[in-house]
Amino acid sequence: MARITASVYTSHVPAIGAALDHGKTGEPYWQKVFAGYDFSKQWMQAHRPDVVFLVYNDHATAFSLEIIPTFAIGTAAEFQPADEGYGARPVPKVIGHPELASHIAQSVIQDDFDLTIVNRMDVDHGLTVPLSLMCGALDPKTQAWPFRVIPFAVNVVQYPVPSGRRCFALGQAIRKAVESFDEPLNVQVWGTGGMSHQLQGPRAGLINAEWDNRFLDRLIDDPAGLAQVPHIDYVREAGSEGIELVMWLIARGAMADVAGGAEPKVAHRFYHVPASNTAVGHLILENPT
Ligand code: DHB
Ligand code: FE
Repeated sequence: MARITASVYTSHVPAIGAALDHGKTGEPYWQKVFAGYDFSKQWMQAHRPDVVFLVYNDHATAFSLEIIPTFAIGTAAEFQPADEGYGARPVPKVIGHPELASHIAQSVIQDDFDLTIVNRMDVDHGLTVPLSLMCGALDPKTQAWPFRVIPFAVNVVQYPVPSGRRCFALGQAIRKAVESFDEPLNVQVWGTGGMSHQLQGPRAGLINAEWDNRFLDRLIDDPAGLAQVPHIDYVREAGSEGIELVMWLIARGAMADVAGGAEPKVAHRFYHVPASNTAVGHLILENPT
């Protein structure tokens, strides 16, 4: 059977992608951000998954106000990096896993979560920046991402957004789905976006480091309690774009302890302000084997 071995949490700031793509990672401003991912790149080498179930949000790139799916699962064989207005990032296409994605859709929909099934979707910085941060330099021969990716897009851009409670319950359904797939795949679930930031209005530039660190503490030790926090608290405390953090509860809900298993091991924790307008947070949690 497939197994969820770990979950990874990280911010997705587009300027991080631009810094990587334009060779600016050595600049003092960016060095401090990328230093938080040195461990993670080594960890990825030692904990190579077959598939990453990558929870992220589309920023009105693949979707628009014409159609707003709350939860969209990518079931295609491949996904192209999106042009977000300044050309597509020079990164490889994402290779999907249609069989596992379809199995998850079947299981989760039968568990009463209404997913939108997407067979064609370009993926924006919300998905490609976390991949770049965790994978680092790609194999020069293949120039490919080293694992398959199932994109799972959550609407946190246009209100109404899903609650943390629902995201946490969805994570539990995703775990059940993965662990009933009849192939011995090593699967990681990633929750991305956040941490506190607001890009618009009179509060643009808002960062709340205290709230962010408390979120990290509770994500580790009290995820069920954290899942009860209403969406308006995210917006008040972590800014209008801080609501991206509800996606981390999907990945956390997929961990073994939530289903009565052993507590995860905190392999890595990092927090840094600022990167562009955003507080960068990052966690790696391992399920005990
Ligand atoms: C920034 C952060 C985001 O999450 C995003 O989607 C776009 C921009 C920023 O900090 O600039
Ligand atoms: Fe964003």
